[in-house]
This record gives sequence, C-alpha cells and structure tokens, in this order.
Amino acid sequence: MLGSANADLVVAVPRRPAGGETVLGGDTVVLPGGKGANTAVAAARLGAEVAFVGAVGSDQYGELLRGSLSSSGVRTDFVRTSSRPTGLAYITVTPDGENAIVVAPGANSDVGVSDVEAVRWDDVSVLVCSLEVPVPTVAHAVEVAASRGVRPVLNLSPVVEVPAETLALLDPLIVNEHEAASLAPSFEGLPALGPKSAVVTLGSRGAAVVTPSGVVEVDAPVVSVVDTTGAGDAFAGALAVGLSSGWSLEESARFAVRVAALSVTSAGAQPSYPTLERVREDRKE
Ligand code: RIB
Ligand code: NA
Repeated sequence: MLGSANADLVVAVPRRPAGGETVLGGDTVVLPGGKGANTAVAAARLGAEVAFVGAVGSDQYGELLRGSLSSSGVRTDFVRTSSRPTGLAYITVTPDGENAIVVAPGANSDVGVSDVEAVRWDDVSVLVCSLEVPVPTVAHAVEVAASRGVRPVLNLSPVVEVPAETLALLDPLIVNEHEAASLAPSFEGLPALGPKSAVVTLGSRGAAVVTPSGVVEVDAPVVSVVDTTGAGDAFAGALAVGLSSGWSLEESARFAVRVAALSVTSAGAQPSYPTLERVREDRKE
C-alpha cells in the first residue's frame, strides 16, 4: 500500500460552521488515519500480509501512526521519517455520521520516487495506491508494479489528474460516486478513461463493478451509521485482500462492501476496521 498517513484530529460538531461563524464541538480525539495507512491497516486486520510505503514526521503523531501500523501487523520498513511534520487531518463529524476533512499533508508531500525505488517487491501480488501523496510518485509506483506483474489498484481519492498511462494500467480504478461523476458521464463511461476495470463505491448503497462486460451492482448491508470516516479506505483494503486471495473483482467487491459497512458502525477510521473474525461473525448474525 502506498499513500498518506495522517493523524486525524476529530471533533464532533452539532453542525458545520459557515464562513466567519464559530460552532462549539466536543473534545478533540486524536486517531491514526490517512488514506494510505488506513488502507494498509484495513487489509492487515483482515489477515493479509501488508507493507506500507509512506512518510511521517519525527513527532508524536509519527509515533502514533507507526504504532497503529505495527500493532495492526503492517510492515513499516518502507515508512520513512521526513524532516516535515506528520500529515494532519482536521475532521468534523456531524450527528448523521458525515465527515468533512481538511488535510495538511506535511510529510506526505515528501513521499517520492526514491521511496518507491526502496521497495522490495518479492511476493507482492497487489499494490494499492491512494492520493494525498504526489501524483508522480503514484504514477511511478503503478508503473513499477505493473512491470513486475503486481496488480495495480488506485483509489483516486481525492480526485486529481493522473497520467493516461497510469490509468491504463489500473485493475481496478476505485472512485466514489462524486469522483466518478467528475470523470465520466456514466459508470459505463469509466473504462473509456483507460483502466482495465473500475469500482464505484456508492456509500450505503454498496458499490458498482465496471468491467468490459458491463456494470454489476453489489448491495451493502443496512447498518446504523456512527462515523463514515475512512470507509472508502476500508473498502480499498478489503478489495485488495480479496484480489490477492484470487477472488474475482465482483467477489472481492462483495467482501469489501461488508467490511466498509462494519467500519461505519464505530468511530474513527483505523480503530473501526474489523478483523476477519468479526466479518465472519457478522455474516452469521
Ligand atoms: O479517508 C479518510 C482519511 O482521509 C482520514 O483518515 C484522513 O486522514 C484523510 O486522509
Ligand atoms: Na468508522
């Protein structure tokens, strides 16, 4: 997994302030997050062997992130300590479980091509990248992965412009429905951007799997929403676990939708990701 690692500074608010307005919230909670680290932790919790490629600062937040990765079983040999501060995400969560996030990327801006060059690829079957790190780094990682027979997956979140050559290697490109709408007029239009396949996450409605043979929708279980932060990252991590287990894209998406649904039932990103055992129990319930 390659992407960002952020400390999430989370505050519950009754509603979001408008410009120039002040709203009082609850106590600040500091949680390990960042789209890349979240994806890595989600996959490791599900029992996969995972390494994370990224950077943190030499500060307390960097320690928090390294700790969360290691205690979830993620290998941190490719996590570099940067001279810049650890990435921070300022997150407000409203009573409906919806979040709004401002990211100060810090050390994540510093994840470069040399970090990709440092990776040992033995036994890697899937690479998942996400943004909040520089696009050229992601493009290079996708290219190197593909040249080594590693399946490249990109969670294009947040949406940024990515070279056509990079898009063409993806299997799949993952986007949420807003991101999909900004890229193509319909889900069927996503393959025209170049990826071998695409998956559109649809929040409480599940996901759509787009392949050259058409679009298949995968339903999500009904859950009570506490906090949707990092649900998309949980989805990407779980999808990668399915793919690396040799499952089809559709089977992997069915699994990922269940994992993401469980993640929204408790607070935070990484702290809310289920183990494989929890996913199996949930299936029996
Ligand atoms: O996708 C959720 C994540 O986005 C948060 O953990 C935050 O750090 C931002 O990267
Ligand atoms: Na959550």
